Amino acid sequence: MEGSDQRAGRLILGLETSCDETAAAVVTQDGRILSNIVSSQAELHARFGGVVPEVASRRHLELVVPVLREALAEADWKLEDLDAVAVTQGPGLVGALLVGLSAAKAVAWANGLPLIPVNHLHGHVASLYLQPEPVEPPFLCLLASGGHTVLIDVPEHGAFRVLGTTLDDAAGEAFDKGARLLGLGYPGGAAIDRLAGEGNPDAYDFPVARVPGLDFSFSGVKTALLYAVRDLSDPELERRRTDLAASYQRAIVRALVAHEAAEQTGAPRIAVVGGVAANSELRAALPEAAFAPLPLCTDNAAMIASAARYAEAVPCPSYLALDAYASG
Ligand code: KG4
Ligand code: ZN
Repeated sequence: MEGSDQRAGRLILGLETSCDETAAAVVTQDGRILSNIVSSQAELHARFGGVVPEVASRRHLELVVPVLREALAEADWKLEDLDAVAVTQGPGLVGALLVGLSAAKAVAWANGLPLIPVNHLHGHVASLYLQPEPVEPPFLCLLASGGHTVLIDVPEHGAFRVLGTTLDDAAGEAFDKGARLLGLGYPGGAAIDRLAGEGNPDAYDFPVARVPGLDFSFSGVKTALLYAVRDLSDPELERRRTDLAASYQRAIVRALVAHEAAEQTGAPRIAVVGGVAANSELRAALPEAAFAPLPLCTDNAAMIASAARYAEAVPCPSYLALDAYASG
């Protein structure tokens, strides 16, 4: 057991099962990560080329208890030491969310703890608030992940106002669909990122959507890649793959940073979170921005516990009535 100074802050257990990562973490009230366990199902879904909701739910069921145990063991705390349980309530795959929510209710109820339901998008933003280098609001937050691409005004911890969103695909989805067209497997963002480093980003002139206001669009660039690939024989595709990856990534990154000028008006700072925040070209394109630490870009439970520090706890046993939500 850790020294008594650790008890000074509340201990929050976080659970995240909104998509294809089963994750549990223990975080202190002052934002220190004591453990952060993520079990990715990506390999399981790779052969289907994307996440299969029913397969994801079943795998979460198998993994949620071992992952939770590992998070407690690594933090060196027991269930009875916890002060609150935080869990992603939505948005996400409802069947997947229900596994985490049910587990969280069971743990909270068995230990007489409050439960803190967390919005997954608030979780991504709160990945910035963790130690050792927390980013303090106000800032404008670009959240780019497999499920979402939104521009958010964050005036203070826990506050959140969506200014713009994608009109079609999310940026991560565009990366994943592009990777599939290039024969790179699922999920493809990191693979395109790697390959793009070896290619010429000017080889193809893929379109960057001009969207009014602060919204985004990625369906045009995806279609452009489809047409480019369709015209190539297999050996030609093999030869041009790095150039295609580099040009495609360049177009997505340009679309993501298109609002940068507008973002800067009145906003002291830009922050970037979500799986696509791991992209090396995006990180280079916004040198002044605050980026979530790499291990906290993709889905994890430390960010959920972090968001819970600024959210309302539901007392025992009222939370037993909470339901998961798919969108919103
Ligand atoms: O935040 P996340 O784990 O899940 C959602 O909440 O959706 O994001 C996953 C997404 C996937 O689409 C993946 O391809 C993308 O993040 N991604 C990347 C990189 N690493 C992960 N996209 C571009 N470059 C990367 N290095
Ligand atoms: Zn996410």
